[in-house]
Amino acid sequence: MAGDDERVIGSGGEPQPFDTSVAHVARVYNYWLGGKDNFAADRAAGEQAIKAFPGIPLSARSNRAFLARTVRFLAGEAGIRQFLDVGTGIPSANNTHEVAQSAAPASRVVYVDNDPVVLTHARALLASDPAGATDYIDADMRDPQQILALAGRLLDFGRPVALMLMAVLQHLDDEDSPYQIVQTMVDALPSGSYLALSHPAKDIDAEAMAKMADSLNKMMAEKVTFRDRAAVARFFDGLELVEPGLVQASKWRPTSESEAASPAALWAGVARKP
Ligand SMILES: C[S@@+](CC[C@H](N)C(=O)[O-])C[C@H]1O[C@@H](n2cnc3c(N)ncnc32)[C@H](O)[C@@H]1O
Repeated sequence: MAGDDERVIGSGGEPQPFDTSVAHVARVYNYWLGGKDNFAADRAAGEQAIKAFPGIPLSARSNRAFLARTVRFLAGEAGIRQFLDVGTGIPSANNTHEVAQSAAPASRVVYVDNDPVVLTHARALLASDPAGATDYIDADMRDPQQILALAGRLLDFGRPVALMLMAVLQHLDDEDSPYQIVQTMVDALPSGSYLALSHPAKDIDAEAMAKMADSLNKMMAEKVTFRDRAAVARFFDGLELVEPGLVQASKWRPTSESEAASPAALWAGVARKP
């Protein structure tokens, strides 16, 4: 069963050549998290960003902790069994399917990323519990219709789905029509579905975050646009935010005082589609 569901789609799954001389966000983020899947250019960009905003490694960890708490909530209290995780990142601790399937083994998870290094790790993301299934799509979120069409091979869009956009929408600038892209994906989901997202904040540690954005935009292939709370709130238009609403990532249902106190320059929220 799990074997049948192990596919890499979109690119045909062939390893693609990649240029290691330019920093890419998946690998820079991996560096901040203490991972080993990064190259000299990624480490240099990561270090420059740390100089501008020393809180970024802890902020990245807070984001991962938010992701895990969110998936636990979705698979537990909210009863969600289908997940569409766009902008997955290089596998790390607590990948979506691991957290979801530890609460509900039959959970189905579709991962989407456009980074060739993430693609090379797809197999780790496809190691599903036999009761559930995982899938990987090599695609750009600027083409939501392609993502939805391919995700439909594993997910039943007649039943609720959690759309997860964790620390990824900052890679769409305003000219990419980010709100329309999110709307297209949310429109494809039935009532009772959820949107969970985190987004680097323009208005938390504002000065340092602006410096970091400048630094990343000089060194990294993917540009970043940080947004303030009101701009992030717009992604949830028409949806019902669950408690505690749109908050700093570390303040979304923390499980310990140290989690709650962790620096996190991201806005984060989870909302239900009525
Ligand atoms: C900062 S990481 C976040 C990883 C993970 N979601 C998390 O929160 O831990 C951003 C990820 O989004 C991916 N990404 C960036 N732009 C993308 C796009 N246009 N389409 C698909 N994925 C994208 C990057 O390759 C990277 O893996």
